Amino acid sequence: MHTAAVLASAGPTLAPGLDGFRIILHVLAATVWVGGQFTVAGLLPTIRSLGDDAPKKVARAFGRLLWPAYAVLIVTGFWNIQAVDAKHASSAWNAVLGIKITVVLIAGVAVFLHQRSTSKVGLAVWGAIGALASVVALCLGVFLAG
Ligand code: HEM
Repeated sequence: MHTAAVLASAGPTLAPGLDGFRIILHVLAATVWVGGQFTVAGLLPTIRSLGDDAPKKVARAFGRLLWPAYAVLIVTGFWNIQAVDAKHASSAWNAVLGIKITVVLIAGVAVFLHQRSTSKVGLAVWGAIGALASVVALCLGVFLAG
């Protein structure tokens, strides 16, 4: 068959069950880790209006959602590497993976320091680095998925 005809007939395919489950877990955890940070930041003015101790209480409750999501990202991240047969990946793919893992670690450390910070500057700087690194990790993940 002519190459163009082969390409034209090769439409999108469904992910096999276990691959779908693995990616759903990874992406669901990413929505909590990344989306949660932006949602809470966006709600902060309203949270502040609820009382002086409201931001602290919400931050503590948010932490109980955030860190399990981070743990799921790490576990399913290594599951991804094993499932996609990374040993045979291109050096570019491996380089992006290495950068992504570094950025994920930076995000984790920054969010941790943000939570522990008591100064306004510390909260702002670590919060911004954590959110930015999380978005970069998400973008690199999309490129890794191909
Ligand atoms: C902040 C943490 C993380 C976020 C936000 C994140 C986000 C994502 C997203 C959105 C995808 C694309 C899924 C798709 O389009 O199918 C992805 C894929 C991927 N992620 Fe992550 N990820 C994180 C942590 C990790 C870690 C720690 C690892 C490795 C240890 C990892 C390894 C991978 C791999 C290998 C893929 C490609 C999976 C495939 O092709 O099936 N991720 N990630």
